[in-house]
Amino acid sequence: MKVIRTVRALRKHLSSVKGFVGFVPTMGCFHEGHCSLMRRAKKENACCVVSLFVNPIQFGPSEDLARYPRDLANDTRRARTAGADILFVPDVAEIYPSGEPLTFIDLKGVTDGLCGVSRPGHFRGVATIVAKLLNIVQPHSMYLGQKDAQQVVVIRKMVDDLNFPVKIIVCPTVREPDGLAMSSRNMYLSPSERAQATALSKALKLAHSMVSAGESDATKIIIKIKKLILDETSASIEYVSCVSTSDLRAVRRISGDVLIALAVRFPSARLIDNTVIKFSDDKKISR
Ligand code: PAF
Repeated sequence: MKVIRTVRALRKHLSSVKGFVGFVPTMGCFHEGHCSLMRRAKKENACCVVSLFVNPIQFGPSEDLARYPRDLANDTRRARTAGADILFVPDVAEIYPSGEPLTFIDLKGVTDGLCGVSRPGHFRGVATIVAKLLNIVQPHSMYLGQKDAQQVVVIRKMVDDLNFPVKIIVCPTVREPDGLAMSSRNMYLSPSERAQATALSKALKLAHSMVSAGESDATKIIIKIKKLILDETSASIEYVSCVSTSDLRAVRRISGDVLIALAVRFPSARLIDNTVIKFSDDKKISR
């Protein structure tokens, strides 16, 4: 695996690659979720490029940019083991040579709700860096995790609207044995918060059982999810929403494909999780 730090060197290297390029954009602090994306990108392409860049413009002023976990030695080891061919690790000046860029990518609608409410500007920063990285790497496919469901919808819309010639492949959320969705921010949790955090996946499972038992009223499902989280954790709930998987608009009834997404705040960390309910006429559901 080659570690490359400049756009120029990356482009030079990629110009000699024969076959498909699969791309995994990341902010580092690799866990099994990232590695599963890398393994899939490697399996399906001649060359797997992983970018590691903690993108300052997607963090709000009171967010965790300064303390965001960074461990390049460990990330290099994990990316190599997962089969990455290139680890692209630019510094901030390489990506934003004149400081904050003058060009941003703003999307309407899909960035307004869910995490967009408490993180204004976050998806503008995400869309802008992903567009830049797509222009730099020019991959055939890009691999994203379902854990960041709103990010996936935002990037899909941007790719469609701006005609980026890239296929987006969404991979399942990887979970700890007790159900907690893997996230770089889980390491902020205190031992007690970590134990309580299993309530999130438990609440999403409860939603699945309610739908299996015939419940289709989104409000009733949301109330049950909130109750379970409030009963079992000290976290405050930022949102629990049932939305359409395609445009993230709130739905009142569970029919068609529905994303149930939630965000909670523990004193040490903000966590998100989600599940997709596929509801067909014969009432079979799947995650
Ligand atoms: O999901 C992330 O790690 C980031 O939002 C991404 C897509 C790498 C953009 O900085």
